[in-house]
This record gives sequence, structure tokens and C-alpha cells, in this order.
Amino acid sequence: MSEMLNVKLASNVVPLRARAHVENQPAIPARATRYPDLRYMGSKSRLLPWIFETLNAVDFDSVLDPFSGTGCVGYLFKSMDRRVVASDFMNFSSLVARATIANNKVHLDGKAIRQLIDGTPPAHNFIEKNFSGVFYKQEDLKFLDRVSGNIRRRCHVV
Ligand SMILES: C[S@@+](CC[C@H](N)C(=O)[O-])C[C@H]1O[C@@H](n2cnc3c(N)ncnc32)[C@H](O)[C@@H]1O
Repeated sequence: MSEMLNVKLASNVVPLRARAHVENQPAIPARATRYPDLRYMGSKSRLLPWIFETLNAVDFDSVLDPFSGTGCVGYLFKSMDRRVVASDFMNFSSLVARATIANNKVHLDGKAIRQLIDGTPPAHNFIEKNFSGVFYKQEDLKFLDRVSGNIRRRCHVV
């Protein structure tokens, strides 16, 4: 991102964590260290240095990550300039993999991000209506509806 963003996190949104520093671990490629560390059950994020050290010594061109989850493992291999085939039956994981592993062209800059979090009244209240009392606080649900509406508006999806 080209500019610093002053984003006020809604109260219940978990900020992305800095990757935990562990002594004497092999360094992974710098690009892979910038991958968001998501809270995701079974994420191999902490194993990335070990995976890198072990497989960087092996001669291979392509890798299959059939349970991509957060996408951090597939992204590590992309950072190692390997061809990556990733999949996951969860839509969330599949979308993340398409945005971070498959995508080499689209990069959202600060202006685009500001448009996505723009304070325009939400175009819909689907998330608030369906997830009230289930996930997040009211203000966070509204925030998500707003971002979702802005994405639709920006991508001209009705
Ligand atoms: C432990 S997580 C993967 C962790 C991933 N390596 C990471 O570091 O984030 C397991 C993933 O497998 C996916 N999964 C489970 N069964 C599957 C199946 N039969 N086909 C495709 N994906 C599956 C789940 O949706 C989940 O995202």
C-alpha cells in the first residue's frame, strides 16, 4: 500500500497480529512475512520457517496445497517462486487464495481502501439483520454492511 491508512478499527475487530518472534528460526522470504497472520484453527503459520527450511533444499517447480485454509502455506511457496495450485472447500479460504496466491495483478492502494471503508450509509443491512446477537457488536455489523455495500458499489455489482 502506498499510503499510511488511518483506519479506526471497530471495537470487536481483531487487529492483525504481528508474527510471533521465535529465537533461532530460519528466516522465510521477506514477502511471506508480510502475509496477514489470521486467527484460523489449524493454521500452519508458525510452521512456515520449518516448512521453508525443509523444502527449500528440495528441487521442485510446483506444489499442491489442497487444504489451503488461510493461504499462508501456498503464499510461502509463491514467495519461493514456485507454481502453486491451492484449493479449499470453504468459500472464504478459496477467495483468500484467489486474492493473494492466484492474483498477480490487482493491488488495492490507499485510495481504494479508503473508498471501501468510506462512511457512506450502508447500501444494505444483510449482515446486521442476520448476524445480530451471533457475531460481533452492532457497530461492527454496520461496519461490515458498509464495506460490503462499498465493494458492490465499487465493483458495480447490484
Ligand atoms: C487445518 S486447515 C488448513 C490450514 C492451512 N494449511 C493453513 O495454514 O492455514 C484445513 C482446511 O481444510 C479444508 N478442508 C477440509 N476438508 C476438505 C475437503 N474435503 N476438501 C477441501 N478442503 C477441505 C478446511 O476448509 C480448512 O480450511
